[in-house]
Amino acid sequence: ALPETVKIVEVGPRDGLQNEKTIVPTETKIHLIDLLSESGLRVIEATSFVSPKWVPQMADQKEVMKGICKKPGVSYPVLTPNLKGFQAAVKAGASEVAIFGAASELFSKKNINCSVDESLQRFDEVVKAAKEAGVPVRGYVSCVLGCPYEGKVAPEKVAHVAKRLYSMGCYEISLGDTIGVGTPGSMSEMLEAVSREVPVDALAVHCHDTYGQALANILVALQMGISVVDSSIAGLGGCPYAQGASGNVATEDVVYMLHGLGIQTGVDLSKLMDAGAFICRTLNRKSSSKVAQATCKL
Ligand code: HMG
Ligand code: MG
Repeated sequence: ALPETVKIVEVGPRDGLQNEKTIVPTETKIHLIDLLSESGLRVIEATSFVSPKWVPQMADQKEVMKGICKKPGVSYPVLTPNLKGFQAAVKAGASEVAIFGAASELFSKKNINCSVDESLQRFDEVVKAAKEAGVPVRGYVSCVLGCPYEGKVAPEKVAHVAKRLYSMGCYEISLGDTIGVGTPGSMSEMLEAVSREVPVDALAVHCHDTYGQALANILVALQMGISVVDSSIAGLGGCPYAQGASGNVATEDVVYMLHGLGIQTGVDLSKLMDAGAFICRTLNRKSSSKVAQATCKL
């Protein structure tokens, strides 16, 4: 059975924009987040407290956190790779954070410059500090269906890292198909392995759409009882450490599919489309959302 409601985690302002070559003005980021807040989304990942040398696009994280209108009932999590990032995030007013590990050693090294085990030690410090501060922590596992450096990734490896993050105290584990190579076949195999270790109601899927499989993969996840879906407005994005990977599945397309299935999201599709139109106009590019491209209106 499909879930009655789905929580969408909008990652466009972070995952979407982090890969932009030219620096997007801070005011644009703030306006995008404010428009997204008006659409009914309940979770909007706002920015990352990572090294500006590694990801220059996220260097204005403090200003973004200061400038956005925090709508009551909406959560604005930020990425924190280590204790330094966590402390800076809390100081900047973040009330939720996300740590991000990987199921692949080489990706971990390229993305956060340490092994998977070392990353888990750092994350443990972050989670301990977060517990003390009363800040909820979300955990990501990247490369769950394939790695740009290692190729195939075993479902058992994903399950292992997901379990570690969950036992540490992450309230939700987002399973990232970072390079968008998964299919409904590999997705269901991986989810079966992970759900033996982590309860499905603590799982989310995070699909990039490189091979055009994201919506099909999400549908499989819904059928397996998952009710949290990450997506990015206008399908923006990619990962700076996963060359050739395209953006996340577009939020507009996910919402269209969910509403068509009779699943509630609380999101107003037309307001969402306004936010998508704004960012595409400002970045001077065509939306990757099929729904936004469609001209035949029902
Ligand atoms: P490092 O070079 O190993 O770190 O990087 P370090 O501890 O040796 O410190 C080096 C410098 O960075 C020092 O500054 C530190 O102070 C500074 P210096 O002395 O050279 O001036 N530093 C920091 N500055 C700001 N904020 C911090 C911080 N930590 C250290 N938190 C580090 C390690 C983790 C910092 C680095 O590798 C990094 O920032 N990586 C982030 C990469 C990233 O953001 N990737 C994209 C997000 S992940 C993703 O997109 C996947 C996801 O969407 C899911 C999916 O699709 O699968 C989540
Ligand atoms: Mg991603």
